[in-house]
Amino acid sequence: MFKLLTRSCVSLPQKCLRNLPVQKRNINTSFKLLGELNPKKPETIKKKSPITWLTVAVTGVFGAGFIAFMLHLRDEKDRQLAKERKRQLGKAAIGGKFELVDPQGKLVKSDDFLGKWVMIYFGFTHCPDICPDELEKLSLASKILEEEYHIDVQPIFITVDPTRDTPEAVGKYVKEFSNKIIGLAGSVEQIAKACKAYRVYFSNGPADDDNDYIVDHTIIIYLVDPEGGFVDYYGQTHDAHKIVDSVVLNKAKYDRLNRSEWFPSLEFNKITQRS
Ligand code: NI
Repeated sequence: MFKLLTRSCVSLPQKCLRNLPVQKRNINTSFKLLGELNPKKPETIKKKSPITWLTVAVTGVFGAGFIAFMLHLRDEKDRQLAKERKRQLGKAAIGGKFELVDPQGKLVKSDDFLGKWVMIYFGFTHCPDICPDELEKLSLASKILEEEYHIDVQPIFITVDPTRDTPEAVGKYVKEFSNKIIGLAGSVEQIAKACKAYRVYFSNGPADDDNDYIVDHTIIIYLVDPEGGFVDYYGQTHDAHKIVDSVVLNKAKYDRLNRSEWFPSLEFNKITQRS
């Protein structure tokens, strides 16, 4: 009989399918009957439920731990990639070492600022309007950063007119804008070296009868990180608030790269999405 049925199934599959609902109905009926015969069944399910919740909780804890660990690994990988990208960019970029003279006549090296965020502006004290505007901006930006964000950034003014701008003259000039700005001067060679490092262009214009002249120069504020690496630059179109936003963002990126934290920082992702 079984042999016959199998064979008919092989040769006539449709017939077999037609038979299926009948069998299914029979199974359902038998389960229904079992349920009626055993009314205690729902109670046993209730008793089992705390164990189920415990299982869920344990799985949840381990699951969350695993996800956090995976996120940490991904975060660490991103950090390493960003560091490598920064290292490669740094090689070809602006910035570098300099040795200049402060208003007290003391030698100041770029390495003296390691560990600090620095904003550098190149100009000259006889500049009629642009340099005063840029120095106002520089001092305002550093003031906002300090007072509102508690970020200490050292503003530096470097003269591109070493013949007229003595260290004393530069010191006196920057005091007109802020007590925080450090004015730096130096020999023609020292100035040329600093300008070359930051790719600052400068050229003396023709002198008038009073031997007064204008120095044509690059108008840019440079942001340098605590490792002495160039980070960003701001032209005339960047107002103090734009500069502040950029410094805050760049500092957040830098801090993240240089801090090993176990949990991925969501705050950082929020910040970087803005950039
Ligand atoms: Ni100027």
